[in-house]
Amino acid sequence: MPHFLIEGNRRLKGEVCVQGAKNSILSILAATVLCSGQCIIHNCPDILDVDFSIEILKYLGGFVYREGKSIIVNMENIKRYDIPDRLMKEMRSSIIFLGAIISRLKKAQVSLPGGCQLGPRPIDFHLEALKNMGVQIHEDGVRLFCIVKEKLQGTKIVLPFPSVGATENIILAATLASGETILENAAREPEIEDLIRFLNLCGAKIKGAGTSKIAIKGVPKLTGAEYKIIPDRIAAATYMAAGAITGGEVLVRNISRIHLNEIVKVLKMCKCGIIMSGENLLIKAPERLTPIKKLKTAVYPGFPTDMQALILSMMTVAKGKSSFEENVFSDRYKYTKELLKMGAQIYVNGKNAIVEGVEQLHAADMAATDLRGGAALVLAGLKAQGISSIRRLRHIDRGYEKLEENLSGLGAKIKRIS
Ligand code: UD1
Repeated sequence: MPHFLIEGNRRLKGEVCVQGAKNSILSILAATVLCSGQCIIHNCPDILDVDFSIEILKYLGGFVYREGKSIIVNMENIKRYDIPDRLMKEMRSSIIFLGAIISRLKKAQVSLPGGCQLGPRPIDFHLEALKNMGVQIHEDGVRLFCIVKEKLQGTKIVLPFPSVGATENIILAATLASGETILENAAREPEIEDLIRFLNLCGAKIKGAGTSKIAIKGVPKLTGAEYKIIPDRIAAATYMAAGAITGGEVLVRNISRIHLNEIVKVLKMCKCGIIMSGENLLIKAPERLTPIKKLKTAVYPGFPTDMQALILSMMTVAKGKSSFEENVFSDRYKYTKELLKMGAQIYVNGKNAIVEGVEQLHAADMAATDLRGGAALVLAGLKAQGISSIRRLRHIDRGYEKLEENLSGLGAKIKRIS
């Protein structure tokens, strides 16, 4: 079984260039389903979730060609309106193809999506919104059969919670609908702004990107466009955390400063020095990190739930006690069980976790439980004394491009055993 071997206790030093944003490219690839012209997307990360999205596009009848970090897509001759169960199960964001397919073809057939197991991840907000736009949905317990008689109708939708996926699905469905859709309590994540910028370049009429009220005026058709996606803020935070946990000095290139405000604040609390200049960020970590009193995850612009595992992993070796409150997903501490094998002191109680920093972690055999939880184990392995192994790399490969190569470039001893 493929696994990482990590010889820890080495201070990382050097430079790393951040990949394009996973959560942008996934929604933008789904958006190409709406386009009747060629799309060229730059800065695309080479990760498993992108491979799955490309498979979906090809299955639907699209032309997709990859050249380095660019992906060329032409969905002019889209033929199919269903997504095979296997591809739906591979990743959570397969569900946002639903809004795009139903909008373009007036019918769609999908099953419930897979992805990281972070507690129940229902899609009720997505389906309720589509029903309000005129989609008839029939479920047989496994698959969803969706059809719209005439055209999707713009309407007012108020989300019960600012869900990222539901916001994207509604935007995709509303772009080619009749009339205007007003979406309130929308998610404000930068990747949604990225999606909207791309759609507007293709001829969509969407206002309010980055705010909680988005207005989408339906247009009859979209063209294609050439677009470069934003840097991945979670991957950037991962390399910053790798520098921090190892007491290192890491220059992270190709970042978007404005998207890293929350992580920078937290790293400064841990007494890391941070210097930002243009699209670069230098982190200089102390020998031992100062703990964080309380870190609460929240929707954007709050502290991202995707960075919770990274910071918690850092705090296992901080000089004292830290506490965490996870407010987005109900079961996002699964990976902590693996960290306990390394001698970490972590006490989880529902959405709260307390971490008592220890002086040294020791190597252990671990398995990734989900994407960011897997990255948290890698961080701990970089710090631990001895050689750790981490299995179930598929979780990590879904979202990180060349993680081991990038960490090796910083002086880590990490090897993938195939
Ligand atoms: C997206 C991101 C993921 C990130 C998460 C929160 C992608 C591909 N994934 O996931 O990396 O961790 O946002 O920032 O962009 N919910 C419902 N009903 C719904 C939809 C959501 O109850 O119909 C709940 C979820 O169970 C969860 C919360 O809303 O508790 C937030 O989920 P959501 O924002 O939808 O996350 P994803 O889009 O799945």
